[in-house]
Amino acid sequence: MIAASVSDFRELARRRLPHFLFEYIDGGSYAEVTLRRNVADLEAIALRQRVLRDMSSLDLTTNLFGQKLAMPVALAPIGLAGMNARRGECQAVRAADKAGIPFTLSTVSACALSEVAAAASQPFWFQLYMIRDRAFMRDLMAQAVEAKCSALVFTVDMPVPGSRYRDYHSGLAGAAGFKGALRRTIQSAMKPGWAWDVGVRGRPHALGNVAPVLKGKTGIEDFFAWMRDNFDNSINWRDLDFIRSEWKGPLIIKGLLDPEDAKEAAAIGADGIIVSNHGGRQLDGVLSTARALPPIADAVGDRLTVLADGGVRSGLDVVRMLALGAKGVLLGRAWAFALAAKGQVGIEQMLAMIEAEMRVAMTLTGMKSIDEINRLALAES
Ligand SMILES: Cc1cc2nc3c(=O)[nH]c(=O)nc-3n(C[C@H](O)[C@H](O)[C@H](O)COP(=O)(O)O)c2cc1C
Repeated sequence: MIAASVSDFRELARRRLPHFLFEYIDGGSYAEVTLRRNVADLEAIALRQRVLRDMSSLDLTTNLFGQKLAMPVALAPIGLAGMNARRGECQAVRAADKAGIPFTLSTVSACALSEVAAAASQPFWFQLYMIRDRAFMRDLMAQAVEAKCSALVFTVDMPVPGSRYRDYHSGLAGAAGFKGALRRTIQSAMKPGWAWDVGVRGRPHALGNVAPVLKGKTGIEDFFAWMRDNFDNSINWRDLDFIRSEWKGPLIIKGLLDPEDAKEAAAIGADGIIVSNHGGRQLDGVLSTARALPPIADAVGDRLTVLADGGVRSGLDVVRMLALGAKGVLLGRAWAFALAAKGQVGIEQMLAMIEAEMRVAMTLTGMKSIDEINRLALAES
């Protein structure tokens, strides 16, 4: 199948990945209400068609946190992405560099910061969770400085992990020990392409940044147990002082859905925020990001850079998010699927597709540059 859309990449990923890995990426928390809302609310937003305005020259470039980007798009942090294709995060950073956009490395990636830094030709962003062990966090931030990361994305919507039913049904969660491992081995053996590329040639299968604190434990259950025990649910706004004291570069707070929280972020001097509900993987039932974004952009858009993610599956969706008030948009599952489907080339193709779709959307809404895109690009503004 030739992939003509993000949903085609999803289908290719479904065919290639072991069942438990596909479900891990595709799924959301609880009844997946928010996951569905993210996609449905965004695609329901009607663009305003304008014609005969000489759209022969478009400018998709933008500047985020002092970095010039080919388009206002970044790859969102995706935990365990390195299991989607061999040394997956290294392939992803190369694809992002080629496309002229930032890649965000998750705390819980397969490839360590240093490995990704060696693969990268441009600065990338590093995402950090609040971990109980502050010395560990300090060390990760020092590594991010060493790796010349150009922004720190601090994720705040995971003080506790939401439950994902699909992970229980697939054998990723719940079935601890031998039984769970057996189910995953059988599912992996049924996907020989993946088993050879990642299972055999993609070693080591450790979590690059977390491996030192896992002390030799490499099982998937060890990883989930570590997350349960070490994610800090005492996190509060004062902890941002700690982050600020260790990280002097641009600081982006990820996982805000409420204008009051966005104002707090502006007050503590964050450089940016990401309006996000973790792709519908945390508190199910919260607002879609498409609906949460406009009041947040109105409240703080003049004080910090507002980014958004959630449900973005096309270049048209990127333009919708920009029209709703975002200055940049992060792609989550879109790149995870493209990586699983075809590795680095898959992400390159997916990003070329997003760019081409943005050009169509900008041409037919009469928006010649990214700065011009605002609510006038929407039919019901
Ligand atoms: C499989 C998967 C793993 C994720 N891991 C992380 C992570 O490690 N850190 C983080 O801040 N967000 C993580 N997210 C959330 C994404 O960064 C992003 O907010 C979300 O995927 C956007 O929604 P979308 O997938 O609909 O584009 C993850 C999302 C998925 C689908």
